[in-house]
Amino acid sequence: MRTTHVWCSGNLYRLSVGAGALRLLGDELDRLGFSGTVVVVTDETVNGLYGRQVDVMLREAGFQPACIVIPPGESMKSLETAGMLYGRLNELGAERGTPLVALGGGVVGDLTGFVAATYFRGLPLVHVPTTLLAQVDSSIGGKVAVNHGMLKNNVGAFHQPSAIVADTSALASLPEREFRNGLAEVIKSAAIRDEGFFQYLETEMDRVKERDDAVLEKVVAVTAGIKSAVVQEDERDQGIRNILNYGHTVGHGVESASAFALCHGEAVAVGMVAAARMAAAMGLCESIHVERLRDLLLRAGLPVAIPEGMDLRAVATAMGRDKKLLKGRLRFVLPTRIGEVVVRDDVPAQLVEEVLQTSHAVA
Ligand SMILES: NC(=O)c1ccc[n+]([C@@H]2O[C@H](COP(=O)([O-])OP(=O)(O)OC[C@H]3O[C@@H](n4cnc5c(N)ncnc54)[C@H](O)[C@@H]3O)[C@@H](O)[C@H]2O)c1
Ligand SMILES: [Zn+2]
Repeated sequence: MRTTHVWCSGNLYRLSVGAGALRLLGDELDRLGFSGTVVVVTDETVNGLYGRQVDVMLREAGFQPACIVIPPGESMKSLETAGMLYGRLNELGAERGTPLVALGGGVVGDLTGFVAATYFRGLPLVHVPTTLLAQVDSSIGGKVAVNHGMLKNNVGAFHQPSAIVADTSALASLPEREFRNGLAEVIKSAAIRDEGFFQYLETEMDRVKERDDAVLEKVVAVTAGIKSAVVQEDERDQGIRNILNYGHTVGHGVESASAFALCHGEAVAVGMVAAARMAAAMGLCESIHVERLRDLLLRAGLPVAIPEGMDLRAVATAMGRDKKLLKGRLRFVLPTRIGEVVVRDDVPAQLVEEVLQTSHAVA
């Protein structure tokens, strides 16, 4: 078990990572000074796997848990679901100090966080992320949101949790594709910030894929640490935090052009290789960097090329619509070497097009 701290928006909170960390949830809530009602929000899948264990453990720790279960899926991240949760909180007589526990993936985390940010102008929130993506990415940094209309995460807030409890043994039940989805963000974090960790992933990728407990503990703790360090330097999402978007410019284009047939992590993997190719063509990094990145992503089971048959114009159009558009120019995070990136908005349009073509051709 590892314990680290995240310092964000003037809040210092504990991040516990490891196999069996879930057992510490009661102690953690107790340490934070909570008592009485604890509202656990989860989805049906996670409830079926871990709901009972959490309920029993919270009761044994002296709390009165109330569990709200929503169907799984991105479509649940809506104002309608938030409204349903507000209604349940009214019924339960939740008060300003009643903690909400988000038990699940990023959907449950973002939705519960949004409700926690807004109900009574802010309830305490504890994240218990159960997907790799949620453990290394969405539970860190304080961004909470729902989707509205056709847009993603457009109604949201910053709301820091009081604690994060990431039980890596919960990842054992995660479907292969969901695991790889998180793995893309792990590799991204190493690629932008930590060459030593990148080398570790190169050495240990087989054990990562076997979901070895000791390896996952390190992978989650280091990746979460990278995100929290970057966010700490830039809480309000204005500057350095942009480096977390490595692979996301082309990634978002590919993700939406695939009509979401590619999951986010798969699209980001393709986007990271495309950005590395741009950097190499601009003389910012060596081509060996592109190869190392490509090899590691392939070993992780992630795609590195734009799928055959995908309309490149649709990719470019979707990239242009992306929110990282800066005064008409696309912003790219480009690697200079493993573990280091720069943010540039002067990548020639011609080069972007060429790299999209190349990424397509090597499929
Ligand atoms: N707030 C942020 O900073 C941030 C960052 C990145 C992503 N996100 C958001 O995160 C969301 C995606 O999160 P996600 O990838 O975790 O998806 P998710 O929450 O939809 O979970 C994926 C699937 O895995 C299931 N699941 C969860 N834990 C499981 C387990 N231990 N075993 C078996 N199945 C399990 C869920 O029921 C769901 O069906 C998106 O809405 C995205 O916008 C937010
Ligand atoms: Zn991402």
